[in-house]
Order: sequence, then structure tokens, then C-alpha cells
Amino acid sequence: MIKIAPSILSADFANLQKDIQDVEQGGADYIHIDVMDGHFVPNITIGPLVVEAIRPITTLPLDVHLMIEDPDTYIPAFAKAGADIISVHVEACRHLHRTVQLIKAEGVKAGVVINPATPVESIIPILDDVDLVLLMTVNPGFGGQAFIESVLPKISQVRSLITERGLSVEVEVDGGVNPETAARCVEAGADVLVAGSAIYQQADRKKAISSIRGN
Ligand code: DX5
Ligand code: ZN
Repeated sequence: MIKIAPSILSADFANLQKDIQDVEQGGADYIHIDVMDGHFVPNITIGPLVVEAIRPITTLPLDVHLMIEDPDTYIPAFAKAGADIISVHVEACRHLHRTVQLIKAEGVKAGVVINPATPVESIIPILDDVDLVLLMTVNPGFGGQAFIESVLPKISQVRSLITERGLSVEVEVDGGVNPETAARCVEAGADVLVAGSAIYQQADRKKAISSIRGN
């Protein structure tokens, strides 16, 4: 079963509760929360306080995507705020195993993220230690960007590595996902699809989620 993780980056921040409950009722599997610091990416979004505020209003797992420098400093705060999955960029981690161990020590599932230009080889050494691999299909920083086609073979590459090793690691894609690109990501081996604008720009979120899921 393909999981859908709506990104609240494209939600109405003045009506976050309504927009989260709307996608929960529409069949979402995770709530994807984009954390940006104005350094790792050229945008600033939300911090642990907002995650803490969201925690009691949904029963869905909170999938926290850290696009920040020095993630180790902030991981405990996001864990305590109620994150269920915390994903970090390899490009932002000086000692990746240490960071992944820190996430797990907080009792949270750990994900590792690579940008479109970062090769899959960079995550091979950490694959046995993570719960999720997130492949960016846009350069992180903003919602509503165009899907980068050249990431498709990387999805297949990650899926093959996971299958070969008999691991149960989820393969998530993020950026420019719509019903058309979603189908190709799933075909390549993705099982969690993040979508922001393709869900929140539609009045009927349930319908948007179903069409991204492919039914
Ligand atoms: C981009 C974020 C994404 C973003 C996706 O930096 O990581 O999660 O919200 O937005 P769409 O689906 O509109 O490309
Ligand atoms: Zn994201």
C-alpha cells in the first residue's frame, strides 16, 4: 500500500488545524513537516513549537523533514515536541551515524535524505541503520517546484539496495509529486509520496490524495 504524506508547507498557516484534519479525513498516512532554517535552504519555516502544537490535533505520524544546518542541536527538541520520524540531509551531517543514533536514542524513527544532485552511494553506509530514505525530487526550500526527472533511476537504485539486503526501509519521494509523477515514482519503487501543492491547491483533498495514490 502506497503511503501519502501531505506537506503542510502548502497549507494555510492561519488554519493549520483545519488543513491537517482535512487531509487526515482524506486518507493521509503521515503529516509531512518541512523545517527550514534559512541557512541549509533559502527559506525559514517552522520549529519545535509548531510541531508541539500540531501533536495533539492528529493521530497521524508526524514526518519531520529537517532542512537545517547542525541538526544534532535541534533533534532532541523535535523529538520531545512529538515527531515520529525525523529525517536529516546527508549534505548537512558531518557525522551521519552519530546523528542517526541520536534520533534513535530519542525513540524516534530515523530517515536520511539526499538532494537531487547527491548520488545514492552516499547513503549506502547508513542504509542498515535507518527506517526511511527520502529522495528529493526538487532542490529543497520551496513548495510548488517542478519534478526533476533524473531522480527516477535513483529511486530504483535505492529500492534494489533495500531488496538485496532484505531490509524494511521505506522509500519516500518529495517535491513536484502530482498524480502523473507519483505513478512514475511508484513504478520506480517509492512507497511514501510527499505532496504539498498537489493536495493543498485542490479544494477536495480526499480526491487529490486518492489520485496521487493512483486510485
Ligand atoms: C521542499 C519540501 C517539500 C515541499 C513539497 O523543500 O521538502 O516537502 O513541501 O512541495 P510540492 O509537493 O509542492 O513540490
Ligand atoms: Zn519535505
